Amino acid sequence: MRFQPKDKSKILVSAPGKIMILGEHAVVYGYPCLVTAVDKRIYIEASKIKGKKDIIIAPQVKESRFVEESINFFKERFKVNKSVRIKTFGDFSHRVGLGSSSAVTVAAFKALSVLFDKKLTLKEIFDLSYQVSLSIQKVGSGFDIAAATYGKTTYFVFGGKVINSFEVGNLPLVVGYSGIKADTPKLIKKVSRAYLVKGEQIKEIFKEINQLVERAKTCMSSKNYKELGLLMNKNHQLLKELKVSTVKLDDMIEAALKAGAWGAKLSGAGGGDCMIALVSEDKKRLVEAAIKKQGGEIINVNNNSEGVRQEYVNESNSDSTS
Ligand code: PMV
Repeated sequence: MRFQPKDKSKILVSAPGKIMILGEHAVVYGYPCLVTAVDKRIYIEASKIKGKKDIIIAPQVKESRFVEESINFFKERFKVNKSVRIKTFGDFSHRVGLGSSSAVTVAAFKALSVLFDKKLTLKEIFDLSYQVSLSIQKVGSGFDIAAATYGKTTYFVFGGKVINSFEVGNLPLVVGYSGIKADTPKLIKKVSRAYLVKGEQIKEIFKEINQLVERAKTCMSSKNYKELGLLMNKNHQLLKELKVSTVKLDDMIEAALKAGAWGAKLSGAGGGDCMIALVSEDKKRLVEAAIKKQGGEIINVNNNSEGVRQEYVNESNSDSTS
């Protein structure tokens, strides 16, 4: 969805949602993961306004905190004291776990940088957004922020130590939403408690996940989907060992495999949200039907999409009241 606001004093920016392909949880402990940006986006319409107070219209309460913090960080960093009006809207619901908070944060920094003519590199947008995310959520690797910022498909290491986008094209993925909203920080804490008690055992799991991620990167580049599917299956088994999957996710995954998917796994923190299946075109409908039969909802997305972008170039963005 590309469009232009009718009022040209407003600027419009968007950032994509994401899907974790492999490496969740291990990435929190310094191992790499693979993430892809999807073609469902969060949009921010922004303008400068008169008056002392910012106006934030964000339909999802959770997201308004991210926008508020982004504005505060930006104003502090660039010594800006003008008020802004920011309105968010999106192609997807914040319930499904596609990373609406990260996308809205990244889009907010991009919008503010355009509005106040302050150049920010993608790395600066990543760093600022990651700080905002940590200030609110306290935990997280930043993989979702990397996807929202850089787009494409990315090999990512904690905190943005490595952010390598590489060419893979659109991966043939089916995404199934379990109907349950995952509590990511809670699941990260669950794994960290297990790490405290059974450190060595959990570390071994992370090391295995690390190897899967490295191999998967090669498979993705060479479009070796058969092997990539097997790697995803192994990754899911390891996530089950971490006890972050659910019966519903397992059922959806098993059904997808029985219907002929090359591989399937949960995607993200677990405890709900989405599963993904790697599927050939001829099996796609069957796999989708099998996931639906288990009560899953198919989320139609393409992946490997563009990162944060300005949708509309505004010539006169100063002092408009709205
Ligand atoms: O639940 P999601 O889609 O935000 O994914 C969380 C992935 C973790 O590795 C568990 C946490 C993180 O920030 O990397």
